[in-house]
Amino acid sequence: MNFEVKDTKIDDIQADCTIVLVLDKDLKHRWIKNADILKKIGFKGESDEIAFLPEDDTIYASSDSFDSDDIRSAVSNAIQSMKNYSYKSAKIGLYTKNCPPINARALVEGILLGAYTFDKYKSKKESLSLKNIKISTEDYNGKSFSLDSTQKAVDEAVIIAKATNHAKDIVNTAPKEMTPEKLATYAKNMTKDIENLECFIGDEKFLEKEKMGAFLAVSRASSEKPRLIHLSYKPKNAKKRFVFVGKGLTYDSGGLSLKPSEHMVTMKSDKSGAAAAINIIRAAALLKLPFEVHSVIGAAENMIGGNAYKPDDVLIARNKKSIEVRNTDAEGRLVLADCLDFAQDLKPDFLVDLATLTGACVVALGEYTSGIMGNNVELKNSMQQSSVKSGELAGTLPFNKYLKKLLKSSVADISNISSSRYGGALTAGIFLDNFIRDEYKDKWLHLDIAGPAYVEKPWGYNQYGASGAGVRMCIYWLKDFYYKENNVHKEDK
Ligand code: BES
Ligand code: ZN
Ligand code: ZN
Repeated sequence: MNFEVKDTKIDDIQADCTIVLVLDKDLKHRWIKNADILKKIGFKGESDEIAFLPEDDTIYASSDSFDSDDIRSAVSNAIQSMKNYSYKSAKIGLYTKNCPPINARALVEGILLGAYTFDKYKSKKESLSLKNIKISTEDYNGKSFSLDSTQKAVDEAVIIAKATNHAKDIVNTAPKEMTPEKLATYAKNMTKDIENLECFIGDEKFLEKEKMGAFLAVSRASSEKPRLIHLSYKPKNAKKRFVFVGKGLTYDSGGLSLKPSEHMVTMKSDKSGAAAAINIIRAAALLKLPFEVHSVIGAAENMIGGNAYKPDDVLIARNKKSIEVRNTDAEGRLVLADCLDFAQDLKPDFLVDLATLTGACVVALGEYTSGIMGNNVELKNSMQQSSVKSGELAGTLPFNKYLKKLLKSSVADISNISSSRYGGALTAGIFLDNFIRDEYKDKWLHLDIAGPAYVEKPWGYNQYGASGAGVRMCIYWLKDFYYKENNVHKEDK
């Protein structure tokens, strides 16, 4: 998809069709040229309504409000409805009350996220003819917005939405194809044409040398060997260092604590944290953010076999703590324990892990919302606020000292599961906290993306399959940091 920003009134732009959003059910707005026909066909401008008027080559899509996420959903509905149309180009104006760049970004993100399809394994491909989108700087209020600011917003949104779609591709790829080794090759290839981006791949020997006993145990039964992937983006004069850690279970069968078949299907999505970490750094590098960013990924398969790790095993993690295994399906935290320890050697100013860690987080917050955990309330809130801007849903969950006691083990320093059936998202987060050194306690966030990472019932602009959860939230968070550091006024974003 190609985007062109035009410093021209929408009526003066040449395109095969026009996309018009109907806001607040306002059918009297000057951009709505066929209000009487719309009324005749029963179009009221209510949530998720779409109307296509072929004689006028116009697609109407309603948006509940001017909020950027409603704009994303509305424009995505319009694009999805156009999948069988032959239009090659479309034009659209800016929808905003007071901050045009934010909604210009939302328009572009909605278009690219809505246009995404994963048809790699289908013989019959569904193709979208639409290739060119012309965005007018003409605003809903009749003013014209700055060409430069609109162009900048559009360029940024293209990077962010494409990174999200790349994360979806990784997750949607079948587990026999996207093995730990292939994921590492994917990450390495990504660095080829991006400036200041490098990739180190550690194999099983490297993990042994690093004494990553927890990570190694999880991966042992698989014929697909594990990889530690370390991507680094180091621009000159970087002001801060951010380290992202991603859970990259290219398949989670549960191991010997085998998952029932109905829970095993979709577990190719257990690499969603890795897919997010790879694409956060891709976007940070393409946006040329003035921060050093690292992504550390623990890529492995959790399988069964004669040499599988077992409940009752005691593992020694990289930081020398002993872990009693009571359930081999609580494997993500074991891989992350070693990767988080490795990540702290990089001396981060901020450390964020992303993982499809627990079904309990889905129970707690629902399938649309990620959980934000950590010891620093302000830091958790900053991520929550950025998630709102990005259009991702996330809620903070609070640790407490009573939950900490539930991980006590009678035979080792810690057990890999809680002794209570309640609060599983938090006890998993607290398990990770045991591998965070004192000096990083307040610099660390844990994002449990198990709910939204894989979509089985489509919602908003999220189609069936991977959603790219975590990518937009973390990029907006990094961008918000940049604006805070540079004292840029909110309206200028
Ligand atoms: N990968 C799963 C968590 C998960 C569940 C992700 C549903 C996406 C959707 C994780 O490895 C797991 O199996 N966790 C267990 C932990 C339990 C054994 C303490 C779970 O949530 O049941
Ligand atoms: Zn598991
Ligand atoms: Zn898992």
